[in-house]
Amino acid sequence: MAQIANGCEEWGFFQLINHGIPEELLERVKKVCSEFYKLEREEGFKNSRPIKLLNELVEKKSGDKLENVDWEDVITLVDDNEWPSKTPGFKETMAEYRKELKKLAEKVMEVMDENLGLPKGYIKKAFNDGEGDNAFFGTKVSHYPPCPHPELLNGLRAHTDAGGVILLFQDDKVNGLQILKDGEWIDVQPLPNSIVINTGDQVEVLSNGKYKSVLHRVMASPDGNRRSIASFYNPPLKATIAPAPQLVEKANQDDLEVVQAYPKFVFGDYMSVYAEQKFLPKEPRFHAVRAM
Ligand code: OGA
Ligand code: NI
Repeated sequence: MAQIANGCEEWGFFQLINHGIPEELLERVKKVCSEFYKLEREEGFKNSRPIKLLNELVEKKSGDKLENVDWEDVITLVDDNEWPSKTPGFKETMAEYRKELKKLAEKVMEVMDENLGLPKGYIKKAFNDGEGDNAFFGTKVSHYPPCPHPELLNGLRAHTDAGGVILLFQDDKVNGLQILKDGEWIDVQPLPNSIVINTGDQVEVLSNGKYKSVLHRVMASPDGNRRSIASFYNPPLKATIAPAPQLVEKANQDDLEVVQAYPKFVFGDYMSVYAEQKFLPKEPRFHAVRAM
């Protein structure tokens, strides 16, 4: 618990091993996602926007970097959207995986409750807009194909995550994920079958800034097709999010200068701001949503 507290307070990221997700399931997830990419995505990526923009840039020989695109192939799975159906076992395996990951997210949130001194279940309740199963749980299946000019763009531009708790199953071998720590970009080294956890903007708000959401990015790479599967445990759009009163009070006791640093807002309003400002600094987002 102390290590998780340290990860949340100092890094905004930590890697979980011994997380209880069966290795056998993780092996199947890797297999069906790689097969899915080969069978259903690889061909399409050849005509994608990043390829076109990169080709144009290289022809121009301008030396600029592409700042408006990511070298990423992505689909998002939620309970009620259409899932890829050509790859044998994909749907079944990913449904099983998502169930396990959602449970893991809830366990991690309980540890955060305890570390923050909040009542057990506080964060889960906030992200479910009360009792009941209202959280938004999404799974992004990404591939970062080999890039002929990795110096000219990012795999995924620097951002913080908008939502609650993010659980990332990254590639065993191909690295690329970096987080910003004290002004320096640091690699999140692949640890086979670990789950990388990070806290999004809504945990920052709930914790009244004790757990910051941290900037991260994915570097494009000239070789290796990096797979990463990010699952997001977020509030539903209608949920109201605000700093936990206990933590605001505590901050006020500890330091009379501290005022409530974050507004109370409807998560859907926050997402409207985020949609426009994902790749910009996060602080103005909290101001913008305060004014809504
Ligand atoms: C994201 C993200 C990292 C990765 O989807 O928000 O940061 O490794 N992904 O794909
Ligand atoms: Ni992210």
